[in-house]
Amino acid sequence: MKKVLVKLVAGIISGMLLLAAGCDTLPKGTDGPREVPLTITADFNKKENKGNWVTYGDCKIKTKDGKAIVTDRKASFAGVAMPCPDYRGNTVNATVQVSSANTSCRLSLCYEIYGNVSYVNIAENGTTESSETTISGNIEIPANAQNAFIYLEASDVRDMTVSFFEISIVGPFNDLTGTPVEELADPSATASLSEAYADYFKFGVASPASVMTNKNDGFKKLILNQFNSVTPENELKPENVLDAVETLGNPEKYNESPAIKFDAAKPILDFCKENGIQMRGHTLIWYSQTPSWLFYENYDVNGQLASRDLMLKRMENYISAVMNWCEENYPGVIYAWDVVNEAAADNGGMRDCYWKQTVGDDYVEKAFEFARKHAPSGVQLFYNDYNEYQTSKQDDIIAMLKPIADAGNIDGMGMQSHISAGLDVNNYVNAMKRYADELGVIIHITELDVQAPGSVNSMYDQGVYMKKFFSAILEADKAGVPLECVTVWGLTDDMSWKSATKPLLFYGNLSPKPAYEGVMCAVNGGDVTKPADYVEPSSDMTPIFEDYENQDFVGKPRYSSVQKIVEGGYESSYCLENTEGYAEYDGYSIDVTAFAGHTIHVTFAIKSKADVCKCTADIDGTWPTIAEVQTGTDEWVLGEGDFEIEEGTMSLSIYVESSDMSPFYLDNFKIEATN
Ligand code: XIL
Repeated sequence: MKKVLVKLVAGIISGMLLLAAGCDTLPKGTDGPREVPLTITADFNKKENKGNWVTYGDCKIKTKDGKAIVTDRKASFAGVAMPCPDYRGNTVNATVQVSSANTSCRLSLCYEIYGNVSYVNIAENGTTESSETTISGNIEIPANAQNAFIYLEASDVRDMTVSFFEISIVGPFNDLTGTPVEELADPSATASLSEAYADYFKFGVASPASVMTNKNDGFKKLILNQFNSVTPENELKPENVLDAVETLGNPEKYNESPAIKFDAAKPILDFCKENGIQMRGHTLIWYSQTPSWLFYENYDVNGQLASRDLMLKRMENYISAVMNWCEENYPGVIYAWDVVNEAAADNGGMRDCYWKQTVGDDYVEKAFEFARKHAPSGVQLFYNDYNEYQTSKQDDIIAMLKPIADAGNIDGMGMQSHISAGLDVNNYVNAMKRYADELGVIIHITELDVQAPGSVNSMYDQGVYMKKFFSAILEADKAGVPLECVTVWGLTDDMSWKSATKPLLFYGNLSPKPAYEGVMCAVNGGDVTKPADYVEPSSDMTPIFEDYENQDFVGKPRYSSVQKIVEGGYESSYCLENTEGYAEYDGYSIDVTAFAGHTIHVTFAIKSKADVCKCTADIDGTWPTIAEVQTGTDEWVLGEGDFEIEEGTMSLSIYVESSDMSPFYLDNFKIEATN
């Protein structure tokens, strides 16, 4: 490992690069090998560029008493950033302490990769103005990333005060300074997905506009060769279309009809027009990536929320202005609009958001009414959502859309499909059928990405899953389910908003992955090629038993929970405590893949103030319960259950959770095969 230097080499943050696409500035690194500090801490006693931090986006930053006070933020991403260009190819931890009246703040990573810009979320937490919140998370920076920096953004444009910001290397340092980035593969060497699927559905891709302005034209070539539908990844979202400077500069003039601009989207609209590719417009009405000033009287976030009447006017004017501008300037390019995105809540009913608060529960209905009124003829109107394959969310979405469908104001259901390679495909296809049958609409899969399994042959296993998934949707399509477009949410793994999970069809250098091969096998026949370095999966079925008396454990946190060994076990000295997390399902998880093809018997002792605790199999979309126990008395309770693990399962964990996020205490956790 390299020597740790306490000081960051001054040159790293000396330059600023103006991006052709967004005009935001990326902190730039210098070239060549140099010694690298393994931890970089922001020094807010020093000025920008001197104290390891820089300003990102349109805002003002003042330093006082070792803190950075960020004001005049014109965008939700504007604030403090820390460049870390030498950390490419490493997993890093970022930790920040912040107080802010924005309801939540988020750490994100930005980097350039072969001339494209990617943004990846790291961790998010609720914040208040009166107390400091810590936000911390790990993220892997792709090996070919350049000019990487981590920044703190917020749900809103309110001020924030940052008292601590640090980035450090997790695990051994992989020193890639001075190592050139890999060459791009020739995209024309790969057979076309859209041609292979031409008889069934369109094959689309989400792309940032930076692909169009990129000097590496390999990315454009890949789109032209592979896809026949394009979705702008961020450029047509309200935060990019609403013109803050113009609207806020003259709130009276724009009171009922906010000013709009298309600078961000033009390169991608031009590309589609010139090349005759059709575009999905994404998205008009959404709770996220929409500035909060839109919802206030006089567009002033320090004043009152606007009335229902005013918000209905703003909504109608925005929808009609955006649709009309696109149709006038790019006639026929946009063939479908995601009119409303993500209005259903994860835990039932409708999501609370500014649109719901100002307009009321019928805001979705109204949006579709306006969209139908103003849409050019033939343009299809979609509702779009995630976790759409889960039964309870499906029920909610169908109930919400039924009156809209009855009124003839919706044409399609957009199934985002951010899934993992454990999702039950039958369950997924049933969801697709239900939307089509019960609402009488067509289906687009709008944002497909498939988290690679954590198995030894991860890329190969992902490919095998892709074959299974595409075979199932193809069969459904052939059987009459009106699936008309499948869009993958990004071109390459490195450009994905979930890059760490390697969820797409192409590697960062544009070469096809086994996942691509799996998609092709589904339509052409054949099997995904086993790699030369294929490792036979372990079939070691030694029972797993944890009594925590030796104070260690093999499981892992599920999402953001924290596990600790504490005193006071079940008839013993120690047990495992599960705390924190943002949801009840942030629990304690153990890998049971080795038991694939067998039935496991699970026993445990558990104690919690929550009413119910459960042991669940981590199968995306179904999450079957293995054992459920009534807790809540603060007494130890015993749980047990059996679960049959399907033959051929590539990766499976089971996890323990409490019903209301109360801490739980676990002991004598035993997993053994019964057959
Ligand atoms: C994501 C983009 O991929 C990111 O670049 C951005 O930072 C956040 O939004 N559901 C949606 C998409 O409808 O618009 C989101 O896209 C992913 C989830």
